[in-house]
Amino acid sequence: MFLKNLDFLKKNRLFREIKDRSSAQGPRIRFGENEFINFSSNDYLGLSAHPYLIEIVKKAIEEYGYGSSASRLLGGGSILHRELESKIAQLKKTESALLFNSGYLANIGIIPSIADENTVLLSDEFNHASIIDGCRLSKANILIYRHKDILHLEELLRKSGSKRKVIVTDTVFSMEGDIAPLKEIVELCKIHSAVLYLDDAHGTGVLGNGRGALSHFDINPYPWIVQMGTLSKAIGSFGAFASGDKDIIDWLINTSRSFIFSTTLPACNVAAALAGIELIEKDKGLIKKLWMNREKLVQLLKDSDYNVMGSETPIIPISTGTLENTLKLSEHLYNKGIYAPAIRPPTVKEPRIRITVTASHTNEDIGRLIEVLNEYG
Ligand SMILES: Cc1ncc(COP(=O)(O)O)c(C=O)c1O
Repeated sequence: MFLKNLDFLKKNRLFREIKDRSSAQGPRIRFGENEFINFSSNDYLGLSAHPYLIEIVKKAIEEYGYGSSASRLLGGGSILHRELESKIAQLKKTESALLFNSGYLANIGIIPSIADENTVLLSDEFNHASIIDGCRLSKANILIYRHKDILHLEELLRKSGSKRKVIVTDTVFSMEGDIAPLKEIVELCKIHSAVLYLDDAHGTGVLGNGRGALSHFDINPYPWIVQMGTLSKAIGSFGAFASGDKDIIDWLINTSRSFIFSTTLPACNVAAALAGIELIEKDKGLIKKLWMNREKLVQLLKDSDYNVMGSETPIIPISTGTLENTLKLSEHLYNKGIYAPAIRPPTVKEPRIRITVTASHTNEDIGRLIEVLNEYG
């Protein structure tokens, strides 16, 4: 049965293959001997191979070794884990924070902890797969609202009766690059006494001076808001976190299965995240450069009549119509030394090229992308 399905994927050009780098992540990468300008990573601030992070990681390995060898509750954590949680709580202006091993594990661990069988979960239709899986793992009643459609969300809230309500949304949508209307969603939470769960994976380090989406909109981190974010994107390390009220974090420590039953992050990962946040706070020029590059690229794409599908962030999808055309364009880019992979169903409904621009791209990198795109026509 699997092999038949595999044939189906291949025949329909939906079969995906892994491409592994022979270089560090960054604006220039290598596959084998060939160099590419890279528009595929979420390394928004160019920190993933930053010399300062590398130096700090080396020191942490010397002090703590590499492996962490146990879950946090069994003593796998280090002082650095605590330090990073305090730093994240401070960054997010919340009482407390808790580390998770990845964004995926955070979403599948946190959502079932805050939504039980007496809960209605209201989830944006374009939420990340890890949110969808977290919702499925919970025993809650799941209602999907149309993408960013406040009227639809309000209608579903009204229909959901007296059950506990939790609204779940990405802050920045990872395949669209647009931002959730958080001001309106927060107002609905107040009216309907709903809890709000935010996945700020692509907002942390990018929006609100690096603090994330709530700061971007100047919204208080109310006690009924639970935030999740990743350390693997703008922060340049690996892992994830939840941040919120102390009671909620204590509840997660005691109930969240992906936290309790998994070996914790190595201390050197944690040290890299601390160093990443330190750089973001010290050098405001990094975020400025990211947004300058983003504005430049979007303007040039629009000047060349590309449809950037409502992007508001450094995630810039370009609408490419059919699957055939999307794959051809991605191949053309690849043959000309630009890496910007095609995104196709089932990840998204409409195929697209997903471009992510970073603070480390040069004007020449951006110019070359436009030149190669325009050659394709
Ligand atoms: C919105 C969103 N949430 C969660 C994740 C998962 O995070 P991680 O890669 O750390 O598992 C991702 C993607 O990587 C994402 O884009």
